[in-house]
Amino acid sequence: MTDSSNAKKSATSNAMWGGRFADGPDAIMEAINASIGFDQRMAAQDIAGSRAHAAMLEATGILEASDVKAIREGLLTVLSEIETGRFEFSVGLEDIHMNVEARLKEIIGEPAGRLHTGRSRNDQVATDFKLWVRDQLDACESGLLALIRALLAQAEAGADWVMPGFTHLQTAQPVTWGHHMMAYVEMFGRDLSRVRDARVRMNTSPLGAAALAGTSFPIDRHMTAEALGFDAPAANSLDAVSDRDFALEFLSVASICAMHLSRFAEELVIWSSAQFRFVTLSDRFSTGSSIMPQKKNPDAAELIRAKVGRIFGANTALMMVMKGLPLAYSKDMQEDKEQVFDAADNLMLALAAMQGMVSDMTANRESLAVAAGAGFSTATDLADWLVRVAGLPFRSAHHITGSLVALAEKKGCDLPDLTLEDMQSAHSGITRDVFDVLGVENSVNSRTSYGGTAPDQVRHQIARWKEIAG
Ligand code: ARG
Repeated sequence: MTDSSNAKKSATSNAMWGGRFADGPDAIMEAINASIGFDQRMAAQDIAGSRAHAAMLEATGILEASDVKAIREGLLTVLSEIETGRFEFSVGLEDIHMNVEARLKEIIGEPAGRLHTGRSRNDQVATDFKLWVRDQLDACESGLLALIRALLAQAEAGADWVMPGFTHLQTAQPVTWGHHMMAYVEMFGRDLSRVRDARVRMNTSPLGAAALAGTSFPIDRHMTAEALGFDAPAANSLDAVSDRDFALEFLSVASICAMHLSRFAEELVIWSSAQFRFVTLSDRFSTGSSIMPQKKNPDAAELIRAKVGRIFGANTALMMVMKGLPLAYSKDMQEDKEQVFDAADNLMLALAAMQGMVSDMTANRESLAVAAGAGFSTATDLADWLVRVAGLPFRSAHHITGSLVALAEKKGCDLPDLTLEDMQSAHSGITRDVFDVLGVENSVNSRTSYGGTAPDQVRHQIARWKEIAG
């Protein structure tokens, strides 16, 4: 950074707003003020907004048809220059809005100056940014659907494969692989519904709110709203230019989704370890170690697990930017974009990486089954049997089962390895039939309550989600 006393000053005042200025801005002022370094990502949205605005200015008789024709065609030229990398962005022109307009002036001359009739950069930036965020919600919807379909394929292949279910990461009860996959389908399904809700709520147009108070020109905000795919114009001009709820909602939805991705990533890291061997990740979604030749690391899962930090950070950062702002626009709001851009880029990447990893991974049915039977996983089934067959109150059944677990632990075996005599030493009413419920297959097959882990229940949920996710 240059010291501000030696910093260069721009020779002339700003062409867009410099009428009352004799001097140009200090270089430091220019550096802190400019957003073109990042908001150029909204070029397509800015030009779409301007083209809709210009068409409306013609339809309402505010501008001549010939001027609007020049403006609309000139804007397409600017767009193609930007898209093909031929556009020279200027920091002196601050942001994407003034860069586009200045270039339009170079191309079409005087009519370019009429484009800004009845609008301000405040409603312009709110419109551009909303359009950009709306595109991200749509991309997020596709990404979530693709991930849900990958999970459904895993669930379908292993609807009846047994594995341990955990609480406190301690073996709890056997569950099915399909059931575990479908738990994530439910989570990403809620993310999908949050994305769709957010899109409905955000879809009003700020354009025409002008600087803050509306305009005296006879504009038609319904027309521009419709042209840009909004459901309606935003109903209060002060709110329209100062609202960033749509960005915050995107970041909140993204944060929750990233948290789900992170939990799943954590399981994949554990499951792919040599101690678990529940899954094998594909070579395509793993990395090696430069020193330990045997290593196959789940880096994609680890990075996905880490992404929630920056995404949630963006959410917090924008909340802090917004919380103290008086109505209407303040320049603080320019700090909204980098947070959202970064969060969106990383969420999309995480969704795609997770989808790739899930599509490619192999569940190791054998290891899952061996682990499913370990750790006294059918103790609850034994207690339930004592209630159902021997007529004991559940609390007594729990206590008796606990004593049998202790006995098995002492003998160094699992529950099904105890003898009938061992069993009867804890409760005389126990018969040989009890061994049926100690098998993990029987255990999962018995859990037929709605939403339970029984393969039929899992298949029912898979069918329901296939209808939704296609
Ligand atoms: N670059 C600005 C932003 O991102 C555009 C709006 C500027 N408006 C203003 N009145 N200075 O917020």
